[in-house]
Amino acid sequence: MEGFARGLPKAELHVHIEGTLEADLLLELAARHGLSLPYRTPADVRAAYRFTDLASFLGLYYRNLEVLRDEDDFRRLTLAYLARAADDGVRHAEVFFDPQSHTARGVPLGAVIEGIWEGLAEGEGLHGMSTRLIMCFLRDRDVGEAERTLTEALAYRGLLAGVGLDSAERGHPPGAFAGVFARARAEGLATVAHAGEEGPAEYVREALDELHIQRVDHGVRAADDPELVARLRRERVPLTMCPLSNVKLGVVSRLEEHPLKRLLDAGLIVTVNSDDPAYFGGYLVDNFVAAQEALGLRRRDLVRLARNSFEAALLDEEERRGYLAEVDAFAARRGVAV
Ligand code: ADE
Ligand code: ZN
Repeated sequence: MEGFARGLPKAELHVHIEGTLEADLLLELAARHGLSLPYRTPADVRAAYRFTDLASFLGLYYRNLEVLRDEDDFRRLTLAYLARAADDGVRHAEVFFDPQSHTARGVPLGAVIEGIWEGLAEGEGLHGMSTRLIMCFLRDRDVGEAERTLTEALAYRGLLAGVGLDSAERGHPPGAFAGVFARARAEGLATVAHAGEEGPAEYVREALDELHIQRVDHGVRAADDPELVARLRRERVPLTMCPLSNVKLGVVSRLEEHPLKRLLDAGLIVTVNSDDPAYFGGYLVDNFVAAQEALGLRRRDLVRLARNSFEAALLDEEERRGYLAEVDAFAARRGVAV
């Protein structure tokens, strides 16, 4: 099954580039910039990766990303992720980044965006894949800062496909960001938001009604609310789910309890993604395989997840048709009816 999951052409739609910072690059960049870290070896780093919830993870994530200082750091981080993604059969990747986590400590926005952009362009050429960049606002910081970040980022409008919303969810309902998201939409940017990860189903509804998002990142808690599930299906709003992340952060107590399969069977556009793969024990294929084993997914379910990933992607229709044809050709070669 792992070979099948790897060979299957897929899009990854929910990955934080800062969450792909592997232990060796973390240590190397710390040494390069003369920064001291509480770890000496990659094994020390990984031993520290035990989380009880989203807050305990975010504390470490924000501390570690401080080794990212200049444009070349962001370029290398991005290139390393795309190499791993390509190995996993990812044909199209939509990458999140958290600008405020860098600008708040004095790294210029241009170094962040241009560094990631160079990595994306280089990786596209090396691996023959397509990419998009999505800028996320931190919901646990004030809205004025998000407004200023958007204004500054519009100087790089052509490099951005969309905006998102992430960081600590509970106590930070999405509605506060309605104005920023309205401006982003007026600029022609796509809009997505983390909702229903540690927050309730109500935050998913609020993100749909007030931010007018076109995709929900996570959306696990939406499964608690039958009326919302019916709406997500009716309005064809995709969910970018992240099974290994949800187990590591206690969003579900065991993978067997993850609602992914139930929502997929209910006809929602469910996708599988890796979130912060350096922290949660696996890239995209690991997430596919773990979900397959815990939830008893069949090959045709994996094909459906792959088709959904391209249906939900920010692609133009011709690119989308091309990728869907790749999935269908792969399924046909393996004798899976879709
Ligand atoms: N930032 C990085 N990973 C995140 C997650 N899983 N939830 C919210 N914000 C994040
Ligand atoms: Zn996420």
